[in-house]
Amino acid sequence: MAGNAVGLGNFLRFPSQAANNGGGSFMVPYFIALVLLGIPLMWIEWGIGRNGGRYRKGHFPGMVSAIWKHPAAKYVAAVGLVIPLAVMIYYTYLEAWTAAFAWFSLTKDYWGQTTQEGMGQYLRSFQAIPKAGDPVFHQSYTPYLFYLGTLGINIWVLSKGISGGIEKLAKIGMPILFVFAVILAGVVLTLPAQPGVDASPLAGLEFIYKPDLSRIGEPGVWLAAAGQIFFTLSVGMGSLQAYASYLSTKDDIALNGIATASTNETAEVVLGGSIAIPAAVAFFGVAGAVQIAQSGSFNLGFATMPVVFQKIHETLPIGNFLGFMWFGLLFFAGITSSVSMLTPVTAFFREEFGVKRETIAWIMGGVCLVFGLGHVHWLQHGVLDEWDYWAGTFGLVVVAMIETIVFIWVMGPDKAWKNIHMGADIRIPQIFKFIMTYVTPLYLLILLTWWGISDALPILLNEKSAGSSAPVSAADTPYVNLARAVLLFFLVTFVVFIRAAWKRNGYDDRKGFVEIATDRAPAEAA
Ligand code: ALA
Repeated sequence: MAGNAVGLGNFLRFPSQAANNGGGSFMVPYFIALVLLGIPLMWIEWGIGRNGGRYRKGHFPGMVSAIWKHPAAKYVAAVGLVIPLAVMIYYTYLEAWTAAFAWFSLTKDYWGQTTQEGMGQYLRSFQAIPKAGDPVFHQSYTPYLFYLGTLGINIWVLSKGISGGIEKLAKIGMPILFVFAVILAGVVLTLPAQPGVDASPLAGLEFIYKPDLSRIGEPGVWLAAAGQIFFTLSVGMGSLQAYASYLSTKDDIALNGIATASTNETAEVVLGGSIAIPAAVAFFGVAGAVQIAQSGSFNLGFATMPVVFQKIHETLPIGNFLGFMWFGLLFFAGITSSVSMLTPVTAFFREEFGVKRETIAWIMGGVCLVFGLGHVHWLQHGVLDEWDYWAGTFGLVVVAMIETIVFIWVMGPDKAWKNIHMGADIRIPQIFKFIMTYVTPLYLLILLTWWGISDALPILLNEKSAGSSAPVSAADTPYVNLARAVLLFFLVTFVVFIRAAWKRNGYDDRKGFVEIATDRAPAEAA
């Protein structure tokens, strides 16, 4: 579960978002969103997932129908299959960048690009989005190769199953990424003062951790903070629920839910906050770091960090290894998350159509490849940003809203509270019952409304692009429309499959599913 949560969001997205939204000003709404949204949703997802497991339902439509016994339930929940699939597709492409840059660090491929400008050109060359006059550093097939390799590893792990693949990967990947992160944070935070820079790495820490209320009145900062909490904890993605469906009523989901959130927040706020921002501040000052973060979501991680490693190399000749560690940690963080995102879809086809695990893993790999190539090919046209908005931002809140209403309100607050505490050694403070029942749904409603007005509608009307506040250009419009059409196509396809599954298995929506066991053992389920 921690492997699922700790991901690119912790080390790449978090520093960029924090720098972009005022550092200490961002952290105040961030922690409020953690307590009022993130942690309650974590428990709700473990609860709804484990409850679904009692009926052998490891996918969102099944979990929702197990509680809300209405024919519409399964269709409303179809979105819980679309979102993890869509996020998986573009997320593995970003993961491929980290694999490529780990390799480029080790081989010193970008060596010599010692300025932000030079590394920016290098990054653009890799992404195949050069600006006029940019030099060419890579063969045009390079990003495709890394994408193919990264996706292949993901599918191979998935094909080995939960305990045989995902768990083994997490047991290797998680310790490695923590060790790499601790080493990097240690190196960065002890960097000496740089000539011509009036800030130390510690000024970077102060920038994030010193509470600041100057931008607290800006709705944009609150929306960004809530969006980060969703993405980083993987709530609203359908994947935590799928993992939880393998648990029994003897498992302590109250404790493990909070342990997952705590592990993720340690990785994000402590480690994620101690690497990219302090490193950028040490060499470019606070204002410089903010400017870099504002210039593009990936510049801090993929352009600034390689510059920093080369500068460190001048006095400590291990810069290329540090670069390898940085991108290596991103890769492990990424892959332990991305494998979780295909779990709901594979569970759906295994449970409802009896397809073998290996077969469905490789079929879904083919599907990911076809649509993923679109992201590799048309990155410059904003297709990735479009999916990141609808699936990776707005969609997460939609799923969260559905599960909160179903688990808390349809099941009933008292029953839901008891359900979460089944098999638990700890008692969650009573205040959270109130938060989950009233505050979380209200917060979600406000978010959806605000987002709807400020972003979703203007983005839908192409008045604003998903990746920046500029309108979508005429050249990009067909690509952006196509990106949306594909998401819609996924939704319709899943609705058709859900209908077929219910028919095939003779489910009666009003009666619910037959319980398979209340305390199934994890090994048997996996
Ligand atoms: N929770 C995962 C991340 O932070 C998706 O990247």
